[in-house]
Amino acid sequence: MVYSRISGTGSYLPANRVSNAELAERVDTSDQWIRERTGITQRHIAADGETTLDLAEQAARRAIEAAGLTPQDIGLIVLATTTPNQVFPSTACMLQARLQNFGGPAFDVQAVCAGFIYALSVADKFVRDGSTQHALVIGAETFTRILDWNDRTTCVLFGDGAGAVVLSASETPGIYSTHLHADGREVQNLQVPFGVSQGYEQVQAGKAFVSMNGKEVFKFAVSALAKVVSETLAHNNIEADEIDYLIPHQANLRIISSTAKKLGMSMERVVVTVDRHANTSAASIPLALDEAVRDGRIQPGHLCLLEGIGGGFAWGSALVRM
Ligand code: ACO
Repeated sequence: MVYSRISGTGSYLPANRVSNAELAERVDTSDQWIRERTGITQRHIAADGETTLDLAEQAARRAIEAAGLTPQDIGLIVLATTTPNQVFPSTACMLQARLQNFGGPAFDVQAVCAGFIYALSVADKFVRDGSTQHALVIGAETFTRILDWNDRTTCVLFGDGAGAVVLSASETPGIYSTHLHADGREVQNLQVPFGVSQGYEQVQAGKAFVSMNGKEVFKFAVSALAKVVSETLAHNNIEADEIDYLIPHQANLRIISSTAKKLGMSMERVVVTVDRHANTSAASIPLALDEAVRDGRIQPGHLCLLEGIGGGFAWGSALVRM
């Protein structure tokens, strides 16, 4: 039996850090409001001209190096993003060109903040069926480009960054299971309501920005994440206390705490980066994973539960032995 296993992790954050206080100089908000409601203290923002592809390349190279591989060993690239460089080709294909690794499949996945879980799930299936030995899975965003910087209800919440893992074929798991869900009935609660298919005029008119009903998103997220973590435990016939680390999507400390409470996990066993990264959408889970691997909290053999939710709504989880 072939499984897939995370053989390397990497991440990258743009150099430019913006604190809540700095943001409060540009928009009617305060450090206190942002901290109390979300746990966020700062975010990284890509420099002018710095793109999703640039961030993805840095994270990808670090993950490949950590796996002890070269870009030529990678047989598949799956890149999760809501903020691709161009309408086409996919950012994954553009990354393939940067890595000088040609011929294998490369494509983007769009599931907003659940994008990395979706991409991981897809890549896991390719590795398991023998299509490739090593797959590169990336979550990369310049999410701050789709924010209305005059809308204080959204612009304080997000940041830019990228995280990546290499999945390698293994005789032992690895990824035990992934669980994906979507419910398209509540599109209006979290969306960018315009895109290229409705004509560039709307985009040019400055309407293609994130719009969100925060309270509804909050309620849906807490409930959906509680259900998907229960589903994951039941599917694998394990108890929550067998999990070493929870690596949640980093949207809001209150949503993260609620899932940890549901699992009966203390916050020491939860990887939290939202305070310093804010919500980096598809990048947030691999960014958090890489941080905890590199600082030594997550060790080989640890059992980790990854979960995330975003626009769609789309959500999911993965149970992973490191
Ligand atoms: N600074 C200061 N005041 C603000 C700000 C701000 N940045 N934003 C809103 N307010 C004000 C509102 O105008 C309102 O004022 P009013 O009472 O005078 O009308 C007041 O603060 C309360 O606003 P609410 O929207 O009720 O605040 P709430 O407690 O719901 O917190 C928040 C808002 C943080 C967005 C919360 O709803 C939330 O976290 N929702 C989840 C959203 C999320 O995580 N989205 C990320 C994308 S989806 C995902 O990744 C899961």
